Amino acid sequence: MPSPFLIVAIDGGAAAGKSTTARALSARFHFLHVDTGSHYRALTAEMLRLGLRATEAAEVERALAGLALGTRVEGRRAHIEVSARLVPETELRGPEVNAAVSHFAAIPALRAKLLAYQRDQARIAREAGFAGLVMEGRDIGTVIFPDADFRFFLHADPEERARRRAAEGQQDSIQERDRLDSSRKTAPLLCPPGATDIDSTFLSLDEVVERVSAPIAGRIDAA
Ligand code: CDP
Repeated sequence: MPSPFLIVAIDGGAAAGKSTTARALSARFHFLHVDTGSHYRALTAEMLRLGLRATEAAEVERALAGLALGTRVEGRRAHIEVSARLVPETELRGPEVNAAVSHFAAIPALRAKLLAYQRDQARIAREAGFAGLVMEGRDIGTVIFPDADFRFFLHADPEERARRRAAEGQQDSIQERDRLDSSRKTAPLLCPPGATDIDSTFLSLDEVVERVSAPIAGRIDAA
């Protein structure tokens, strides 16, 4: 029997190891990799380009209505296009977006715009012939795919996460983003009930990947 199409949700705070883990799963199992943080970053970059602030919710909502979202698959990675534009990585990870993204991500209309788009990534992955979808973010196991085949929640001590981010050469106030992400009303960052909670503070990334991969490999082998 062919293996079923699998959906894997990976949630967790800033620099908790989500992206590295998701990339490794995508390579090992031929899953489409979708980083939903980049969706929030891309819409934030677009709003900043339009000169809007997160406090101007009505204007932001109006601007969002005029944006068309598309997907470009490159290798095993899906990238968001905002009105046919791929936002450059340097802009997505720049200090302006780092500082503003959690404020924009707290706006319900902005999250609503991304909800259907993110769920539709499963169709895109199937149609492109992937064996599954690995989606990382803050609310994948709670809101986007609560019925995912596997749901993981990664965390690590704030000092360790700050060290990882600095080692990537990035200036990023991850504690402040975590505070905003955990305290917002719509889709706050939390470990979904029933998800596998992994503390990566004292684990190498290889060990995290192994813990996450083992049950998936088991399911595929059993199919
Ligand atoms: O890479 P890092 O974990 O630092 O952040 P990210 O995944 O790129 O996400 C950037 C920001 O987008 C987060 O701090 C959240 O404010 C927001 N986000 C969200 O609200 N929901 C998601 N599913 C993913 C990201």
